[in-house]
Amino acid sequence: MVLGIESSCDETGAGLVQGGRLLGHALSSSMDEHARFGGVVPEIAARAHVHALTPVVHGALADAGLRMSDIGAIAVTTGPGLSGALQVGLAGAKGLAYALGVPLYGVHHLAGHVAADTLAHGPLPNPCVVLIVSGGHTSLLLVRDLACDRIDHLGDTLDDAAGECFDKVARVFGLPYPGGPAIDRAARAGDPRAVLFPRPLTGRRDAPYGFSFSGLKTAAARWEERHRTADLPLPVADGAASLQEAIADVLTRKAVAACTAHGVGTLVVVGGVAANSRVRALAEERCAAAGITLRVPPMRLCTDNGAMIAAVGDLLVRSGAQPAPLDVSVDPSAPLEYATLHPLTGRARPGSASASVCASDRSAERSHRP
Ligand code: KG4
Ligand code: ZN
Repeated sequence: MVLGIESSCDETGAGLVQGGRLLGHALSSSMDEHARFGGVVPEIAARAHVHALTPVVHGALADAGLRMSDIGAIAVTTGPGLSGALQVGLAGAKGLAYALGVPLYGVHHLAGHVAADTLAHGPLPNPCVVLIVSGGHTSLLLVRDLACDRIDHLGDTLDDAAGECFDKVARVFGLPYPGGPAIDRAARAGDPRAVLFPRPLTGRRDAPYGFSFSGLKTAAARWEERHRTADLPLPVADGAASLQEAIADVLTRKAVAACTAHGVGTLVVVGGVAANSRVRALAEERCAAAGITLRVPPMRLCTDNGAMIAAVGDLLVRSGAQPAPLDVSVDPSAPLEYATLHPLTGRARPGSASASVCASDRSAERSHRP
């Protein structure tokens, strides 16, 4: 049974997973402490993790009806994220792993978002296209064996992430932090066709799977400014619905195009923005039209949590991946290459597209046959 610990931003999460099944989890958020600053304050987040970590681990064990001695391995987010916040989780995980005498795995936060879906819908098909949309990242990925294989980036955002765009525009519209859920709520009463916001990077000559949201954010800010300078009331619901429509349109259009171009039958949409009602609805509509199976984790598994990190740890353990050395450190800006952040202790060879971190990898076995 794997304990997963997440502390990369403002949520302290612990989850327990065995054989792909979620046994229990607990979460503590410092979100309310950041609200008056309009964004996450790293030092406040790190201190909150110090207070929350032990209760959250005990909470997950109590939720599962298990004891500390039942833990067989520990997985922890080692990046990307806020440095101080990550360090609290890693220090706690190392202490527990050392005390319990169990292996430790350093996990990439975004791989956690991908694995979250396996807890609700079972193993991921190989290959699948994954759209990751969170507060800090927007990427279209081609995922094979999540635990073992190098992850292919089909496209990434050139500037702001989709969640960042939601958060920043919400602030300009006078909506509370975090902005994504606030825009989602405000949009219910609005007309998505009221404002024609741009659809960035959707021209024929643009990178087919690249994203850019900073121009959209500026367009929304100019729209608000025009109302303010003309002393007109801001139709917030219409602005929110139109912004949400633009973001959902670009995300789902490119994700479906990536599946079609690569002949992949399953799209998985994960990360905090996958909780957005319009992103979910439009993805469903467009996948159905294109004959693509859509997988989106339930809301509570979309935003940051410990269960998703435990899910990666469970996959790594079952694939025979190498544990991390106890001097493993955090990498706040880690690129997403493998699910684990220490693949080179395993079999991966840099630069090799087929590199695998798993000892039990079948292609590795084949190449070792006489
Ligand atoms: O994945 P996540 O919990 O944390 C990161 O790893 O970044 O994502 C947080 C992001 C925030 O930008 C938040 O505003 C956005 O997800 N978000 C939403 C919704 N719920 C959360 N964005 C749009 N609509 C939502 N319902
Ligand atoms: Zn996240």
